[in-house]
Amino acid sequence: MTLGNREARTILQDAEMIRSADEVQAAVQRVADGINATLADQHPLVLSVMGGAVVFTGQLLPMLDFPLDFDYLHVSRYGNGQQGGVLHWKVAPRENVKGKVVLVVDDILDEGETLHAIKQRVLELGASQFYSAVFADKANGKGKPIQADFVGMELPNRFVFGYGMDIHGAWRNLPAIYAVKGK
Ligand code: IMP
Ligand code: MG
Repeated sequence: MTLGNREARTILQDAEMIRSADEVQAAVQRVADGINATLADQHPLVLSVMGGAVVFTGQLLPMLDFPLDFDYLHVSRYGNGQQGGVLHWKVAPRENVKGKVVLVVDDILDEGETLHAIKQRVLELGASQFYSAVFADKANGKGKPIQADFVGMELPNRFVFGYGMDIHGAWRNLPAIYAVKGK
């Protein structure tokens, strides 16, 4: 399902802003500070998880002050719906991770299945170390198979959108974080 223009605007009007653009920027800076303090001498391969991490990655990279390589993955679990489902690799990790310190950048850690599967693939392909940075960690009250090394902010257990995260394909471009009311 994708949204028409009018429907997308209605969804935003009916949603609640739960983190401001300023709070978002402070979170990105915190993540950058942590990565700069940890990976500066590792020449990591940064792997951005399309499409949700595109905004976070685009702002994070210029805040990193050491040499790095860059590539991307494309995996989706939710498709365009809101229910967790089967993992679908559109662009899987490839041989360039071999022997590298890899830093995977994603938008949000929810159940953790996506990041966990990425970690397994990246290590199977011979990465020497695996790190992960997520813009947000969802407090879903469940045990997660993986914790991220760098986390920008915690978010409540609601369906959120903005700052790279979509609602039925729309509104990845918002600078703040929104949640559907009552969900
Ligand atoms: P997980 O496997 O449950 O951790 O799902 C993680 C992926 O699902 C993230 O990379 C997001 O793309 C997507 N996701 C999880 N929660 C949300 C949400 O509230 N809004 C939008 N996308 C989400
Ligand atoms: Mg994603």
